[in-house]
Amino acid sequence: MEERTQELSQTLVNLQTTQAELIQSEKMAALGQITASVAHEVNTPLGVIRSAPGNIIATLNVLLPQLPVLMQRLNPTQQATFIALVNTSLQQQQSLSTKEERQLRRRLQTELDALGLVESQEIAIQLTLLRIESSLEGNQHLLEAPDCDEILQVAYKLVQQNQNTISIQQEVDRAAKIVFALKTYSHRSREAEEKSLIQISECLEIALTLYQNRLKQGIEVIRKYEPVPDLLCNPDALTQVWVNLIDNAIYAIGKEGTLEIAIAQQAGQIVVEITNSGAAIPDEIRLRLFEPFFTTKPRGEGSGLGLDIVRQIIQKHGGDIQVSSQSGQTTFTVMLPLSRSMGVADVK
Ligand SMILES: Nc1ncnc2c1ncn2[C@@H]1O[C@H](COP(=O)(O)OP(=O)(O)OP(=O)(O)O)[C@@H](O)[C@H]1O
Ligand SMILES: [Mg+2]
Repeated sequence: MEERTQELSQTLVNLQTTQAELIQSEKMAALGQITASVAHEVNTPLGVIRSAPGNIIATLNVLLPQLPVLMQRLNPTQQATFIALVNTSLQQQQSLSTKEERQLRRRLQTELDALGLVESQEIAIQLTLLRIESSLEGNQHLLEAPDCDEILQVAYKLVQQNQNTISIQQEVDRAAKIVFALKTYSHRSREAEEKSLIQISECLEIALTLYQNRLKQGIEVIRKYEPVPDLLCNPDALTQVWVNLIDNAIYAIGKEGTLEIAIAQQAGQIVVEITNSGAAIPDEIRLRLFEPFFTTKPRGEGSGLGLDIVRQIIQKHGGDIQVSSQSGQTTFTVMLPLSRSMGVADVK
């Protein structure tokens, strides 16, 4: 009898070890997924950063010798108008849809026709590119210059160089943000057992940044963050919760839809709701969601451990997770108690 008990307890220990190994391998798989997503994500800004300077150099090489000649051909009033036009265009930041662009071009052409300009069509095209909305009156001297079309092309090339530089800046910022999120994530993974006081939105944002690439392709993210107190928790583990829930939500949405993330405080708890617009979860699946190894993904795609790990982490924080699902609206609600979570004794 004693032998049997020993055997059983040994089997139990073995099972626990296997489970721990599987959880570890699931973490590695998640990390692999994230790394691939991040590599892709960083590659996009790098593409812009790599090509934009070449464009700037090539254009400036052509433009700089042209500019003094052009300025000499213009009288002082026209020169002043040229500079004003470039400045106005530089301040225009709105992006127009193809339809809006067509409307603007037509409107400009009607105005130019009224001024009796022969090359009204070409000029309207250039002014549209420059995003000059209207008030052609002040620009009349310049627009009546014989080679106005060419002058406006030079103006547009100048403005484009500014836009190229701004996009380099934006893409560098984007890449830096992703690297920062990844650094924070891996740093936290190393200090897995450390507890700290954090704003829950911070670790949600890290998870969102890591999935930026997949979210960008047709998924609208709606954030409804209410102000909440700091939460004493294991930020690495909680990031893992959001990564898994967001990963599942993106998978459920497919190509297009919405992902809504809401943070609120309710009766001493922080409540995080992650809602996606995918299909409803059938009842027979809903009952098994948190079972280890339960997955509906094709073979080799999912381990089915995601939600099991999520539940374990939330339980360690003294919290709870609930699911509600109807067509077009599936919500995973995570409740984390503010006072109990990671009690002071656990923190030390
Ligand atoms: N937001 C969701 N919408 C619809 N079904 C979901 C959602 N989240 C989870 N599920 C269902 O629950 C199952 C289990 O999810 P879980 O995260 O545990 O594993 P997985 O996503 O299948 O695999 P892994 O997380 O290892 O990639 C999924 O296969 C899916 O059928
Ligand atoms: Mg999953």
